[in-house]
Amino acid sequence: MEVVIVPDATAGGELIAEAIASLVRRKPDALLGVATGSTPLPIYEALAGKVRAGAVDASRARICQLDEYVGLPAGHPESYRSVVLREVVEPLGLDESSFIGPDGSAEDVQAACEAYDRALSEAGGVDLQLLGIGTDGHIGFNEPCSSLASRTRIKTLTRQTRADNARFFDSPDEVPHHVITQGIGTILEARHLVLLATGEGKAEAVAQSVEGPVAALVPASALQLHRHATVVVDEAAASKLK
Ligand code: F6R
Repeated sequence: MEVVIVPDATAGGELIAEAIASLVRRKPDALLGVATGSTPLPIYEALAGKVRAGAVDASRARICQLDEYVGLPAGHPESYRSVVLREVVEPLGLDESSFIGPDGSAEDVQAACEAYDRALSEAGGVDLQLLGIGTDGHIGFNEPCSSLASRTRIKTLTRQTRADNARFFDSPDEVPHHVITQGIGTILEARHLVLLATGEGKAEAVAQSVEGPVAALVPASALQLHRHATVVVDEAAASKLK
């Protein structure tokens, strides 16, 4: 695992956007796994800037989702499908058909999870998976105690994660209780994992993930098992590293 400390979120976004741009120059139809939440926004802004400036042609890139709320109506502005369309697919000038994600409104959620794992393999696997990290060490929505071998499945959000995500909704009660998330085993199949963590609130989770033992209690520690994992942290998120 490689740990890169950058001055701030903007620098982290720029560094990772350049890594994505360089992947897409080498492999124009790369499958890029995207995360939602606040942390990756500087990456998407920097990447869209490169596309607008003509520094990279991302027109053949493909996008896939890491996780999705269960039970939000189709088209809800906070469904992760809507967020990824708004923050990534549209700014990069991509067509919706270049984007795959799990169906959070499926009647048979288990079948939707299995179908998504199959869709990822049939797409050739994820070339670069972007990750954020929860204050409790989650990646995707693999909350503490998730199996390190888990596949895409339904999970219940912890109270802490629902509280962390309440800022995206009109009221805390509106935050769904359940999500579909790629499993840790699924995430580890991506060819390159890139985790960005910014802000002091992530410092403890980063320290445990990078310097602690690999343990299901700290899902992001699974990155230690991956042969090509890059953790990009700003000074604040790095503040508890030894
Ligand atoms: C969202 C996701 C989550 C977030 C994490 C951090 O797709 O996978 O693991 O990355 O909850 O969220 P932010 O970036 O909002 O602090």
